[in-house]
Amino acid sequence: MTVKKIITEDQSMSLFHGELNETYHSTHGAITESMLIFIQNGLLPLLSGKKNLNIIEMGFGTGLNALLTLSSAPESSIYYKTIEAYPLSMDVIHQLNYAYLPGFDNYRDAFNSMHSSNWEEDIRVNDFFTLHKNKSDLRDFKVEKERYDLIYFDAFSPNVQPELWTKEVFSKMFESMKPGGVLVTYSSKGIVKQALRDTGFIVERLPGPPGKRHIVRAVRKF
Ligand SMILES: C[S@@+](CC[C@H](N)C(=O)[O-])C[C@H]1O[C@@H](n2cnc3c(N)ncnc32)[C@H](O)[C@@H]1O
Repeated sequence: MTVKKIITEDQSMSLFHGELNETYHSTHGAITESMLIFIQNGLLPLLSGKKNLNIIEMGFGTGLNALLTLSSAPESSIYYKTIEAYPLSMDVIHQLNYAYLPGFDNYRDAFNSMHSSNWEEDIRVNDFFTLHKNKSDLRDFKVEKERYDLIYFDAFSPNVQPELWTKEVFSKMFESMKPGGVLVTYSSKGIVKQALRDTGFIVERLPGPPGKRHIVRAVRKF
């Protein structure tokens, strides 16, 4: 796997995946994009109702979503499970600038420990945040019935990974979510929305970050 560091328009870094010819985040701003999709439209609205949240992330990658979740809800009790088939090397992680950007300096150690910690274990990143990294293919995900409040679906795009944006995969996510649970993702492609609807989600299209008209928020009503 060949990954190359890039600087996005909001000065936060991202990576370019050579074989897939795709970036890990929007070139218009990695942090801007992740904040809008996953935090502002996923985490924060759910947090207003509760203090404990169980989250699944599809694709740990750079760890940016975990860092933003930790820093956006520092005193909420969060269990964060992340599924990643192709972990990045520590050499690549050390080149990322997220924890050196304004507002994130308090989270430098936490960010490093998220990456250096063991896989397949519950890791207490601090008193409130537990991380569980699962090295596996998303298609092999074992349903954990009605356990999760929120899913960050952050695979590479359906153009290059159509096998992940399917009713089969979304059904496992659906069954693992509590009624009222929310899945947020950056792709509003027709086949994605259709697969989510076929699964049983109520699908909403919301305004996207710079460079993207829409994103998707899907709710498991019951
Ligand atoms: C668009 S990147 C986003 C990663 C991460 N959320 C971030 O902010 O850096 C997609 C991630 O999904 C991972 N991935 C790709 N195919 C996968 C699969 N079949 N199962 C699990 N993870 C996969 C990639 O290795 C990559 O880290």
